Amino acid sequence: MLFVKTIFLASAFYAATIRGTPVASTSYPIPTIITPYNNTWPEYDTGDIHNSKFDVHDVLDFGILKDYNNEYSLDRDGGGSCSLANQTFWFFCDTIVSQYGEFVGFLSNSVALALDYNHAGWLRDISASSTYGVFTAIPYTDGEQALAKDIFNRIAIWTYTNCVPINDTSAVHFWEVVQFIDGGDPVDQGTTMAVYNLDPDKNELSITREDQYAYSGEQYAYGLFANVVVEGIAYLYALDVTYSSRQDVHLACAPVSQITDKSSWKYFDAESGEWSSTQPSPSERNASAAVISNSMPFSSGNIYYSEYHNQYLLIFFNNWIDNTFRVLSAPTPVGPWTTDNKVLYEAPQGKSYNYGAQSTPIYYQTDGGRAGKDLMLAYTYQDVGSKYPKAMKLKFA
Ligand SMILES: *[C@@H]1O[C@H](CO)[C@@H](O)[C@H](O)[C@H]1NC(C)=O
Ligand SMILES: *[C@@H]1O[C@H](CO)[C@@H](O)[C@H](O)[C@H]1NC(C)=O
Ligand SMILES: *[C@@H]1O[C@H](CO)[C@@H](O)[C@H](O)[C@H]1NC(C)=O
Ligand SMILES: *[C@@H]1O[C@H](CO)[C@@H](O)[C@H](O)[C@H]1NC(C)=O
Repeated sequence: MLFVKTIFLASAFYAATIRGTPVASTSYPIPTIITPYNNTWPEYDTGDIHNSKFDVHDVLDFGILKDYNNEYSLDRDGGGSCSLANQTFWFFCDTIVSQYGEFVGFLSNSVALALDYNHAGWLRDISASSTYGVFTAIPYTDGEQALAKDIFNRIAIWTYTNCVPINDTSAVHFWEVVQFIDGGDPVDQGTTMAVYNLDPDKNELSITREDQYAYSGEQYAYGLFANVVVEGIAYLYALDVTYSSRQDVHLACAPVSQITDKSSWKYFDAESGEWSSTQPSPSERNASAAVISNSMPFSSGNIYYSEYHNQYLLIFFNNWIDNTFRVLSAPTPVGPWTTDNKVLYEAPQGKSYNYGAQSTPIYYQTDGGRAGKDLMLAYTYQDVGSKYPKAMKLKFA
């Protein structure tokens, strides 16, 4: 028995060595909070689409998305969710930690767990909490770490969408790496792929970045805008930020089981309808190759299959500074996507600008109900001097 175990460990070590040493990795304990969801997604039905008017029955406002038991108070923004092994994580971007008005720490990202799907505003903080400590959720490389505390030249790692589930306990999540130069605006450095592994027996989350950048700032950042997994294939959506001012959405795909191996990826040309193994290297706008291109600047969003609508929905904010949730839809992940967006809900506006739209149907996939009829919505609400995510539930009519 011992002999067998040794062989197994040796081969696991060998596999890890030939794949190269991760540029950054970490693992930390997580609370034992279980929020089961039904991830036996209904099969996509090629029949008629339903409820295409996207009329909304009502929206319930849960207020601040936060840990009401954390002794620290947090000011934070952005982020996206990730559901693994009956737990739903929320990752956030810049997080300022304080206690009784005194500064405790600053993180470029933090992570929390959904506490109770019936109270969509309730979280249990992990990486910015009086219980678990103050540490960044996504590991820095040594070079990035050296700059983390230099407020004028810091490196930040930010996301504005959900993860791509690989299996019950693993996912990849795309994050943008930016650097501030001499206190100026953040400059995009590229996109990093964080691989999550949850060990439900040990209650431990491991996060690894196997390459520093999955693609440079000059390439389309596939998976950074949105993703959807259909029958073992991950569809990864990128905004053309540089040449289309965030209007064109380009698409790549990969088998989820091989998603960390970029040689398995294919890139879609909407004009020919063909997938190619050659990654585009954009030097000008290429609207005809995009799956969505309709004169609308996107900021953040999510794509998922709604059984209730029998369609893929893209729920998004259409400007960086926005608080109005909108929807586009398509019968397949590739399209054809609708070109006229429909307003779903104008969320409360703070005294300063709002941004960071997120949504997930997973909170309401627990009761055998039709997936996609109810959505958990989140966005960054910003008042004078403070910003924080807010949570809501939207029910379609
Ligand atoms: C999630 O919960 C269900 C029942 O609540 C259980 O059958 C399943 O094994 C759990 N999955 C994981 C990965 O823990
Ligand atoms: C899930 O995927 C990860 C990453 O590919 C792999 O290491 C792990 O063994 C898989 N787990 C299961 C239960 O299939
Ligand atoms: C547009 O994209 C397609 C597909 O990637 C590519 O074949 C074509 O050369 C691109 N055109 C321009 C002008 O970049
Ligand atoms: C999970 O979803 C499937 C497909 O919609 C459904 O048949 C099943 O009843 C659901 N299970 C639970 C526990 O909600």
